[in-house]
Amino acid sequence: MNVLETKNLSKTYYSKKGSLAYEALKNMNITVKKGEFVGVMGPSGSGKTTLLNMLATIDKPTSGDLSINGTTIKSLKDQELAVFRRRELGFVFQDFNLLDTLTIKENILLPLALDKVKVKEMEDKVMKLATSLQIQQILDKRTFEVSGGQQQRAACARAMIHQPSLILADEPTGNLDSKSAKQVMDALSLLNQEQLATILMVTHDPTAASFCERIVFIKDGQYFSELYRGSNRQAFYQSIIDTLSVLGGDFHEHGSHRA
Ligand SMILES: Nc1ncnc2c1ncn2[C@@H]1O[C@H](COP(=O)(O)OP(=O)(O)OP(=O)(O)O)[C@@H](O)[C@H]1O
Ligand SMILES: [Mg+2]
Repeated sequence: MNVLETKNLSKTYYSKKGSLAYEALKNMNITVKKGEFVGVMGPSGSGKTTLLNMLATIDKPTSGDLSINGTTIKSLKDQELAVFRRRELGFVFQDFNLLDTLTIKENILLPLALDKVKVKEMEDKVMKLATSLQIQQILDKRTFEVSGGQQQRAACARAMIHQPSLILADEPTGNLDSKSAKQVMDALSLLNQEQLATILMVTHDPTAASFCERIVFIKDGQYFSELYRGSNRQAFYQSIIDTLSVLGGDFHEHGSHRA
């Protein structure tokens, strides 16, 4: 079953006067199956954030269709869309987006709070997730008392706690050193393999990308190619590097560390 399906998804940005138009995304067709872990890569300006904003249902395509977990997004009214987004999607951002006034545990529980889940059930879920992501010791700490890698693993737990149909991650390792980045990628892989999370991640980092099962490359707002990992992560990493060099463009701003 496809959790995500786009058909000829396109986005044109118009200037205020409407005279200038820029086609940031052109006829994008992407499908993500249930349980897949897919990466999206492309040069700066290729349309990754544009795509992610539409998949996140916070921006509307100019034309084309998008469905998530069998629901056609454009059929939803704004109110329904807000509920749909909260229930069906989980988010991991580059800058963690945890609330400083709450403990790590309270942050992880946020997506359940609005749906009035029973306290015991919430406690069980948070302990189970925190234990597998190895952040059970920091649950009562505040965000400023823990490392960036720990904050991002907490953000991964928050993205998963309500069992969304799709987790969208935008440069989740962009603000982390290579050791913390690896821990976060291990955490996302674990959610994918053990909790069967379906994940779509935008990244500049070939090492982070090599944790995915499949990478979709985009260029100038269009599908360019894709790569499957297969059994050898090192070979996959090399193929990613090779494809990025064929793609050209700017990949340097976020750097990259070795696999
Ligand atoms: N709100 C907007 N109005 C007009 N043009 C925009 C807008 N947002 C993005 N663009 C343009 O659309 C193109 C794609 O931008 P986008 O932010 O999706 O790229 P990206 O792949 O995320 O790049 P990066 O890797 O630098 O984050 C760029 O040329 C950008 O200048
Ligand atoms: Mg971007």
